[in-house]
Amino acid sequence: DCMTSRQMIKLPGFIDVHVHLREPGATHKEDFASGTAAALAGGITLVCAMPNTNPAIVNQQNFSLFKECAKNGARCDYALFVGASSDNYHQICELAPEAAALKMYLNETFTTLKLNDMTVWEKHLSNWPKHAPLCVHAEKQATAAIILLANLIDRPIHVCHVARKEEIQIIKTAKERGMKITCEVCPHHLFLSTKDLSRIGYGRGEVRPILCSPEDQQALWDNMDIIDCFATDHAPHTIEEKDSEKPPPGFPGLETILPLLLTAVNDGRLTMDDLINKFYKNPRKIFSLPEQHNTYVEVDMDEEWIIPNVLTHSKAKWTPFAGMKVKGCVSRVVLRGEVAFVDGEVLVEPGFGQNVRQWRTRMTDEERLSLGSCEKINASFEHLDEELQVKIP
Ligand code: DOR
Ligand code: ZN
Ligand code: ZN
Ligand code: ZN
Repeated sequence: DCMTSRQMIKLPGFIDVHVHLREPGATHKEDFASGTAAALAGGITLVCAMPNTNPAIVNQQNFSLFKECAKNGARCDYALFVGASSDNYHQICELAPEAAALKMYLNETFTTLKLNDMTVWEKHLSNWPKHAPLCVHAEKQATAAIILLANLIDRPIHVCHVARKEEIQIIKTAKERGMKITCEVCPHHLFLSTKDLSRIGYGRGEVRPILCSPEDQQALWDNMDIIDCFATDHAPHTIEEKDSEKPPPGFPGLETILPLLLTAVNDGRLTMDDLINKFYKNPRKIFSLPEQHNTYVEVDMDEEWIIPNVLTHSKAKWTPFAGMKVKGCVSRVVLRGEVAFVDGEVLVEPGFGQNVRQWRTRMTDEERLSLGSCEKINASFEHLDEELQVKIP
């Protein structure tokens, strides 16, 4: 614990752009209240919640349900993703101003949203406003395919959870050619590999992208300057589900990402600037996220501890990082002037969290009605971006 403070430092409230909070539809795995408690315990004050829920967030109606769940349950601030389906490319862009981003699933994983047809990829890439963030789950060859398509259309994309040498290399080359591409890497691909599978267990070790070879893992560290963001891909499933015949893929990660990254800083494998850039500044820039005033995290850089089998706040009562020795822990979190976490306890209630996409100047109903088509929304989005810093209290 953080009782004996040595080198205490103040850092920004961290931003995790990739979390699965399982609400609506699978609240036995997680919900907004438990997931955002885990976020705060991990020094994260803003999360972007993924749309592969049940129902999946693929239309206005389900997005309203998603917003209601978040509004009632979230303890930290948030923005909410919408999902690309094989037939929503005409309508979904209407939600661009309100969404964290659009998520496109191009590979097999824990979702009903996988897109097989490249003509559908093209439609989503073209219709979603160019200035609104668009994220892709794209592994192996799909990474190269989506980079080419996005480049032909001349629109930015953000590649989620880069895990392999072949993926980071194609992204590096694309960046060198001036293509508008950003990417994130997860702690489990930085700190774990196939070498850890026997310890973790093969069922529990299921995750997408999979845990890769030590060579893939090393390629991520060797290309640290290519990585724009750190994100957890917090994907909680219960221990019973993970230990079953058909274990679903996914690891919890909110309560462990910062201690792991602080350990890397302590070990000299990462600079404090890298940590702040990739886990705060770049997420804000790439996702156009507003500043959270009076928000910061106090960490104890000298606290050495061993990650236990079970962390406190997530409903996933296990972690793939159990037994790992870390140096650095979260001591206190202040969110918008309130002490949200101290001495291992979350002090803010469900409902304290705010939707940061509702902080910008809202379009009036009249403006909204006059917008109608996606082309018009495209044209208006640039203007909305400029107003990002204007907040409604
Ligand atoms: O391992 C994963 N789990 N990868 C994904 O892309 C989805 C996630 C989940 O929602 O469980
Ligand atoms: Zn401590
Ligand atoms: Zn994914
Ligand atoms: Zn994910």
